[in-house]
Amino acid sequence: MSDLQISRSETDLILRELAKVDHLDGDVVEFGCYTGDTSVLLARALQESPQKWLWLYDSFAGLPEKTAADHSANGWRFKAGTLKADASTVQHKFRKYCLPEPVIKQAWFQDLHPDEDLPSKICFALLDGDFYESIKTSLQLSAKKLVPGGIMVVHDYRNPALPGPAKAVNEFLAQNPRYKLRLSASLAIIERLAAS
Ligand SMILES: C[S@@+](CC[C@H](N)C(=O)[O-])C[C@H]1O[C@@H](n2cnc3c(N)ncnc32)[C@H](O)[C@@H]1O
Repeated sequence: MSDLQISRSETDLILRELAKVDHLDGDVVEFGCYTGDTSVLLARALQESPQKWLWLYDSFAGLPEKTAADHSANGWRFKAGTLKADASTVQHKFRKYCLPEPVIKQAWFQDLHPDEDLPSKICFALLDGDFYESIKTSLQLSAKKLVPGGIMVVHDYRNPALPGPAKAVNEFLAQNPRYKLRLSASLAIIERLAAS
């Protein structure tokens, strides 16, 4: 059975969005990399852009506790501690596919410091932390470094088992009018409008 957390059709959409920001300054980040399956695809796409680094963030302790915003009738399988992985599994995958080593930060998103733990500029962010607080925090962190025209893609926007991502995205957009939303499959694609 496949353990893919993001379907191939969705990763195709993600890679299409990544290609759109190739001309922009800044690095690529993934919040919630798990075992690195999507990270490897991002890294492959970035081989054409060697000046861009890939930064990966995960607790590697699995999901945190849910908050009230995450409760749903069919979300019972998303429990604290599930989706535990190991940073060495990610590193091993990158070596196996002869890809440049990413920057890997093992931490709870809430404990990351934007100036110490994030690149100075971000052109593309994939946010896949499943829960409300995880998406809210990773949106706030990424937006601090996102260049004009840059894109943040949030997974699970239309996943009835995981209501947290949509709530976090909708709140972010209500508070940040200079971002534009597009929806595609279960992805929320949020673009920072170029400065006028
Ligand atoms: C669905 S998995 C990510 C799947 C991955 N993007 C892929 O495509 O294979 C969610 C990951 O987010 C991590 N995560 C969720 N909330 C987090 C938080 N607040 N801090 C750190 N890691 C978190 C979990 O540990 C888990 O590995």
